[in-house]
Amino acid sequence: MSGHMNLTLKVWRQKNKETRGKFVTYKADDISPDMSFLEMLDVVNEGLTRKGEDPIYFDHDCREGICGMCSLHINGRPHGPKEETTTCQLHMRSFHDGQTIVIEPWRAAAFPVIKDLAVDRSAFDRIQQAGAYVNINTGGVPDANAIPIPKDVADEAFESATCIGCGACVAACKNASAMLFVSAKISQYALVPQGQTERYSRAQAMVAQMDEEGFGSCTNTGACEAECPVGIKLTNIARMNREYFTAKFFKQEEAH
Ligand code: FES
Repeated sequence: MSGHMNLTLKVWRQKNKETRGKFVTYKADDISPDMSFLEMLDVVNEGLTRKGEDPIYFDHDCREGICGMCSLHINGRPHGPKEETTTCQLHMRSFHDGQTIVIEPWRAAAFPVIKDLAVDRSAFDRIQQAGAYVNINTGGVPDANAIPIPKDVADEAFESATCIGCGACVAACKNASAMLFVSAKISQYALVPQGQTERYSRAQAMVAQMDEEGFGSCTNTGACEAECPVGIKLTNIARMNREYFTAKFFKQEEAH
């Protein structure tokens, strides 16, 4: 059909965490430019299933850019070539007829491969659980306007809260640092009045968990910000460092 594309895919196939993976080449023929990247993989998988072969395993859920489950490294970039776009929202019109597309899972020691293109991102859940709770009075439901939050602060907190936890920041970083993710999660609570009670202990707990999970350190290359599909800003990392060092300072003061 006119406008449709024939592509060559080099896909990382790996049975499980224990086995070694390798690239396998597939043809993806007659692909519509209007298809999403994941729909294109669905078509390839239908072909594999028809031939009795094992379909390519990849993560996805909402396919609307909300859940953060899709996670492909496409031609060397997390979520592919388009800025601020998740893999599920990436369309095949971003590629051209005859192109070879290399598809890999996130590469980071803290994100072991489960199978093929899917990695285990439970380290992110454990970091969240280490600190992302708030102590609130569960008595009556407070009036929505009872705690005024300045608009600029609310906007900043909202921006941090848009992090979908996909892990592209880790995949983009040469040190596999999780600082952008963790700093966004810390910021979303540190900025609003409801998050103040545990403000500093939260920063310490989440950073400690991040280190325990084996993520690398941040050397300010900015690759994470450049590849983040929802545009989380590096300024979150500066805020997180402030929170963390203030927490340390308070602890020292208490000890004296
Ligand atoms: S599948 Fe939910 S963000 Fe891509």
